[in-house]
Amino acid sequence: MKFFVDSADVAAIRELADLGMVDGVTTNPSLILKSGRDIIEVTREICDIVDGPVSAEVVALEAEAMIAEGRRLAGIAPNIAVKLPLTWQGLKACRVLSGEGSMVNVTLCFSANQALLAAKAGATFISPFIGRLDDIHLDGMELISEIRTIYDNYGFGTEILAASIRSVNHVRQAALIGADVMTAPPEVIRKLAAHPLTDAGLDTFLRDWEKTGQKIL
Ligand code: E4P
Repeated sequence: MKFFVDSADVAAIRELADLGMVDGVTTNPSLILKSGRDIIEVTREICDIVDGPVSAEVVALEAEAMIAEGRRLAGIAPNIAVKLPLTWQGLKACRVLSGEGSMVNVTLCFSANQALLAAKAGATFISPFIGRLDDIHLDGMELISEIRTIYDNYGFGTEILAASIRSVNHVRQAALIGADVMTAPPEVIRKLAAHPLTDAGLDTFLRDWEKTGQKIL
């Protein structure tokens, strides 16, 4: 499973990239707002750090304007994936931009039928939003599973990018289902390493080691 970082925080992305944990990055207008940075500048900086796909989202609503914004964003670096919303206009823009050779991440996907359309329009990635479905008491993970089945049934190459991941459990479940990629905030990625039994075990080992009176160095 590829790990994308869902953030426009350059310092956090760099820290995870240094550990080899970053296969790509996703941003959105809310994350750009949170960063307090200019979209072009911060996206360029992220592309300098990360070799894999870096999603940058358009904000236009009509296909022609989305295509123009998408071309501008794609011009930032060769590893940009243009992020387009899953609307009819977004699908039109997806068809054109993917036809031009740009990577496209179709975002705000909440149904298997939407994912089917994105694949047919040539999306590189489909982003089903798990957490936001859970927020309204629907089953985000069931959506990942349905899309996996449909894409496998017909051999679609569009990668399933499990998005809106809020917990370590989301990561585990998406990996078990076979999502190709997951994107999560830096804090969720860090939490993947945590387990209370690891902490307790380490505590015991260190206390016993102290009693041996030995040193390794
Ligand atoms: C994905 O590309 C989105 O940026 C993100 O995962 C949305 O997550 P949220 O629902 O926690 O805002």
